[in-house]
Amino acid sequence: MKHLHSTLAIILLAALIIVILITLANYFGNKAYNRKIALIGLITAHLQLVVGLIVYFTSGLGLASFSGANMKVASSRFYFLEHPLMMIIAIILITIGYSKSKKILDAKKANQTVLIFYIIALILILSRIPYPVGSWSIFN
Ligand code: HEM
Ligand code: HEM
Repeated sequence: MKHLHSTLAIILLAALIIVILITLANYFGNKAYNRKIALIGLITAHLQLVVGLIVYFTSGLGLASFSGANMKVASSRFYFLEHPLMMIIAIILITIGYSKSKKILDAKKANQTVLIFYIIALILILSRIPYPVGSWSIFN
């Protein structure tokens, strides 16, 4: 599951960047909103949420280390609180952005809505991803 979680992390980052670039092109090119492209980001994010929750309840770094004493330990707090919380907020933003755009008839506005929500989500994800990358199980 940890391996899957690190693999999906890379797939999700790549998916978000691709969705943002294609939607940017559609926005500036005054083209139709491409819901299927935005859906790639949504599905990858939801998959990562499920896998992340499983890792959270099974890994020693997740719920198991949630304690008042560990709050003072930055490296522990990162995994049992900051990382999961920020990622869940980002995934909620992606879901809201996708959902809102689906109902917008004006292509320019739909593209713009997905762009705003997905770009903020990407920034939040990048802010709480566990660097250094060398420790990811996919690279070991
Ligand atoms: C903890 C698990 C999950 C939660 C809480 C969750 C939550 C949600 C929510 C709230 C929506 C509503 C979006 C809307 O208003 O249209 C949604 C839509 C969706 N989710 Fe999830 N989801 C989860 C897991 C998954 C998984 C595992 C997948 C697939 C691999 C998935 C795929 C989708 C798809 C395809 C849509 C809607 C697409 C559409 O409306 O066109 N979700 N999810
Ligand atoms: C945007 C979504 C997410 C991304 C990109 C992401 C990325 C990562 C990465 C790269 C790691 C390091 C894995 C390793 O050391 O091999 C990690 C670890 C972890 N993640 Fe996530 N994550 C996401 C969402 C979540 C969520 C939603 C949860 C929990 C609710 C979660 C819980 C954890 C935990 C507990 C660990 C530590 C696992 C361990 O080494 O024992 N993650 N995450």
